[in-house]
Amino acid sequence: KLRIEFQKNVHDFLRQNNKIEDLASAFPIYATNTELYHPALQSLQSKAIVTVEVKSTTKMTISKEGESCLAAGHTPEGEVMDIVMKGPIQKTVLLAPAPNAPQATDKKGKKVQDPRTVAFFALTKQKLIETDADGNVVVGSSLKQADGTTKPFEDTIFLALQQFAKGEDVKPELVKELTKKNYIEKQIIKSVVLAKGTAFDTFTTEEQVLLTNQMLLTDEWKTHTFKEKNFTVPADLPKWGKLHPLQEMRSHFRRVFLRLGFTEMFTRRYVESSFWNFDTLFQAQSHPCRDIQDTFFVASPTYTMPDQVLDAPCSLHPSLPAQPKNELERYYMGLDLPEELIPRIQQVHEGGGDVCSDSLGYRYKWNRAEASKVILRTHTTAMSTRTLSTLNEGLKRVWRKNPSSQSPERPLAHPPIHGEACLSHSLLNDAHSARFFSIDRVYRNETVDKTHLAEFHQLEGFVVGRGLNVAHLIGTITHFFAEVGMTQFKFQPTYNPYTEPSMEMHAYHPILKKFIEIGNSGIFREEVMVPLGIDKDVRAIAWGFGLERPSMLQCDVSEIGALFGGKVDEEWVRESVMKIPHK
Ligand code: PHE
Repeated sequence: KLRIEFQKNVHDFLRQNNKIEDLASAFPIYATNTELYHPALQSLQSKAIVTVEVKSTTKMTISKEGESCLAAGHTPEGEVMDIVMKGPIQKTVLLAPAPNAPQATDKKGKKVQDPRTVAFFALTKQKLIETDADGNVVVGSSLKQADGTTKPFEDTIFLALQQFAKGEDVKPELVKELTKKNYIEKQIIKSVVLAKGTAFDTFTTEEQVLLTNQMLLTDEWKTHTFKEKNFTVPADLPKWGKLHPLQEMRSHFRRVFLRLGFTEMFTRRYVESSFWNFDTLFQAQSHPCRDIQDTFFVASPTYTMPDQVLDAPCSLHPSLPAQPKNELERYYMGLDLPEELIPRIQQVHEGGGDVCSDSLGYRYKWNRAEASKVILRTHTTAMSTRTLSTLNEGLKRVWRKNPSSQSPERPLAHPPIHGEACLSHSLLNDAHSARFFSIDRVYRNETVDKTHLAEFHQLEGFVVGRGLNVAHLIGTITHFFAEVGMTQFKFQPTYNPYTEPSMEMHAYHPILKKFIEIGNSGIFREEVMVPLGIDKDVRAIAWGFGLERPSMLQCDVSEIGALFGGKVDEEWVRESVMKIPHK
């Protein structure tokens, strides 16, 4: 009621006067109970009935020092002059603090000299007083007249202050003086200025009734008056959807891969067997990364079982069947170990064997149970070996036909690429290779920090063909990163059980102002390739990198948690802009 009353009064006032220069003085109730009336004002403003503008003006007012001067009837200078004019006085007496006088302090509460002492020095400087050899303070030379009499002293500052207090005009130089002495001070005064808004005429004091379904059903609506709708008022634009930067980055990378002729690998499995995740990648069963500290082991099922399939429909790819339709799908989806590969992998781990006679293996007893442990995949490289293992027949058939031919047939799964500009060593124009990629989620039992999460996304890629070498790897990766505007990065040698040589990729982070590791790469070892049925002279250059790190570079965030996980700010997602030029 009070608010509506207030709104009505404001409206009436505006109708007559067009403008309210200062809401607080026109409506003192607003100033005394802003909390109550402000929402009413806001509502008027939001309906464009009024426009609200906050104006700040400055005004000179008398300060605390000024007030005490006025009360005393003189400035400290005036006081000192009064005393001295009456006759010589000992300096010590003159400057002795008045009994019980409070210690003078400035605005910040810091101790300062007594005003009388300050006045004493100022007056001495102006030769209005002087101190003789006996320590007596007497009238100074500038007040002495030729005839030996003394000119009277005028406390001009005090008079100006009095004038100011009465609201009379004060000479500008005296205003300056008063400000300098802190007798008057600037005050910022905020005033709320109201004017008619574009919807001023639509104002109504009737209480708004919300039309409900019930009212329509029971005819109750007939008893209410509803506020007339104004369909011409521009509405606030709704907040529209926006892809998460990570999703944008993922689609971008995906497009780049597809354009470069890569085939997307099947990655619909977060739960993987140790066999594919580690053993096929020539990681010894005693390797520390197979430790509970680095890897999440699944409690149930702990071990792969012959008929185990992932039977939950995939939310990301709902078009894919929950149940495998044929042998190939079953093979892809199932956790069951591929019996035909097991002896080959075992041989390679134990000592190279016939499968890989150039290798000494790790020379330990390979354990099938260890390989059947079920885990959350720690990298999508598990998908690469799965994919490689399905290529063998195709590759063998195609490449064996005419191994020395300049233009061997290619497996149909990998269409040729057309007209991409490539770096000299980039393989991406070479139609004689098969290339695969995936972008999907992986899990690591890691301590979460600025650049690490326990759950993140990996971009995986490999190119398989004859005669591939490190130059191809560097060229291909450089080419790929140029596609996302990342040119400041470098390679550094590292160790992976499954690649030789191996290289880390580091990219420059503009906020962290240093190179951060974004991925890892290498050439798959013979111990990986040959057991999977790939010919000995066929090489695969491979790499894996996080999706989060390049995305961090793209949207200038320095913490991975700002990008992915529970702490992501929705507003930030809405406003984030990728720097990459989208092709
Ligand atoms: N799997 C590696 C990782 O998780 C990346 C990688 C893939 C390295 C392929 C070399 C070859 O970091």
